[in-house]
Amino acid sequence: MKDGKYELADIKVVGLSRVFNLSDFNCGDDDLNDFIKNDAFGYQDKKMTSTILIIEKDKVIGFFSLSADAIKLGNLEKDQCDNLKPQEEYPSIKISRLAVDKSLHRRGLGKLIIQIAVGIIRNMVSNVIGCRFITVDSYNEKVDFYKNFGFVFNEHSKYKKKDHYISMRFDLLNPPQIKK
Ligand SMILES: CC(C)(COP(=O)(O)OP(=O)(O)OC[C@H]1O[C@@H](n2cnc3c(N)ncnc32)[C@H](O)[C@@H]1OP(=O)(O)O)[C@@H](O)C(=O)NCCC(=O)NCCS
Repeated sequence: MKDGKYELADIKVVGLSRVFNLSDFNCGDDDLNDFIKNDAFGYQDKKMTSTILIIEKDKVIGFFSLSADAIKLGNLEKDQCDNLKPQEEYPSIKISRLAVDKSLHRRGLGKLIIQIAVGIIRNMVSNVIGCRFITVDSYNEKVDFYKNFGFVFNEHSKYKKKDHYISMRFDLLNPPQIKK
């Protein structure tokens, strides 16, 4: 812990497991609370999304989930892809869920989770499976959280119709400097 903010040494990162009590987890968002308590194991069994828990002293204080994804880019966005021949779709991994217990918001855990997810995707996935981008469907009010880490809006028309969330991506090949 430094200046009240969590560091990697303060937490354990473990795969979804019934060893830990999930019933007390509360991130303040009903859908995400319901997912971790009722759906995460089923989605994992059906290979739809894999969930990773963030643990402090045997307590679940956060989680995130990853799924394979592919995104379309607008023409201007394709031009920014290092002279690569334009592709129909670009291989990606989606951070499909991300949550921190409400009691610990603004203590640096969200930032740590993004760093862990980027590390896993860069070092364990993209070295063996083509994967250019990390994607998220952000709640409208959480866009600034993701912008902090270099996520940008997906401009293709396919992503412009959705009003509940906003499609964003992070470029693994041209990673921005993470703020702070
Ligand atoms: C979004 C969430 C994961 C952020 O976790 P957190 O641990 O509070 O985030 P951090 O403390 O690491 O914040 C890092 C930086 O992101 C920004 N940030 C954090 N929460 C933010 C928010 N709600 N809106 C905009 N920016 C935010 C801040 O700049 C913060 O830096 P600061 O230390 O100067 O405040 C957490 O609020 C949460 O679990 N919310 C409920 C579930 C949810 O909305 N998940 C995202 C679905 S898209």
